[in-house]
Amino acid sequence: MTGEVFINPSILNANFEDLENEMVKISAVSDALHLDVMDNLFVPNFTFDIAKAFEIISYTKLPVDAHLMILDPDTIAPKYAEHGTHSVTFHFEAAKNTATTIRNIRSNGAKVGLAIKPATSFEQIENFIEEIDLLLIMTVEPGFGGQSFMQDQMEKVRIARSRIEKTSKHRPLLQVDGGVSLDTIGKAATAGANCFVAGSAVYKSDDPAGMVEKLRAIASENFKF
Ligand code: DX5
Ligand code: ZN
Repeated sequence: MTGEVFINPSILNANFEDLENEMVKISAVSDALHLDVMDNLFVPNFTFDIAKAFEIISYTKLPVDAHLMILDPDTIAPKYAEHGTHSVTFHFEAAKNTATTIRNIRSNGAKVGLAIKPATSFEQIENFIEEIDLLLIMTVEPGFGGQSFMQDQMEKVRIARSRIEKTSKHRPLLQVDGGVSLDTIGKAATAGANCFVAGSAVYKSDDPAGMVEKLRAIASENFKF
C-alpha cells in the first residue's frame, strides 16, 4: 500500500471579487486551501497584505496552506502561524535565519513549510529536512499563475523523495507548485511528490471540484512511496 496524496487548490487564478464563493466550490473535495501571498518585492507581483490574507483565512472552512513569497518571512511568517494558519511555507532564498524562523512558526502553532525556487538545489536545504513538515519544490518561477510546468525540477523531486525515505522518524510532505495539471501531475507523483498545488487547472475548469477529483485520481495512481 502506498501513501496518501494531498490536493491543495490555489486561489491565485480564482475570481478575487468573489473569493468566498470560489472557495466553496472546492472545499468539499480539497485537503487545504493554498494561499499565495506575494509582496511585489520577493516576486514581481502583489496579491494581498496580511490584513486581507487574515480575512480570507477567516472565511474558509479548509485548513490554510499559506505560501509566503515575501521578502521578510523571519518577521511575518510567525504572525501567520499565530493567526491559525494550518501550515506556513516560506522561501529559503528570502529568509535571513531559516532555523529560527522554522522554530518560530512551530512555536506559534503551525506546521512548517520550506520552499525552494527552481535555481535552488535540494542540497542547500537538506540540513533542515528533519525540522520541517513540508518541502515545496517550485515547478515554475514564483510570481504568477498559468505558467508551464518545469519538467527539469523532477530530478530534484526524486532526490528529495529518496532522502525523505531514508529518514524513519519524520516524513515531511513533498509539495510541487506551478503548472500542475492533468498532463503533469502524474509525472510529479511518479518522481515522489505527494502534495500538489493547482491554480489554473482548477479555476479555469468549468467544474473545479470535478477537476480536483481527477487530479487526485492521477496522483494516487502514480505515487508509489
Ligand atoms: C506561483 C504560485 C502558485 C501558482 C499556481 O508563484 O505559487 O501557487 O500560481 O498556479 P498554476 O497552477 O496556474 O501554476
Ligand atoms: Zn503557491
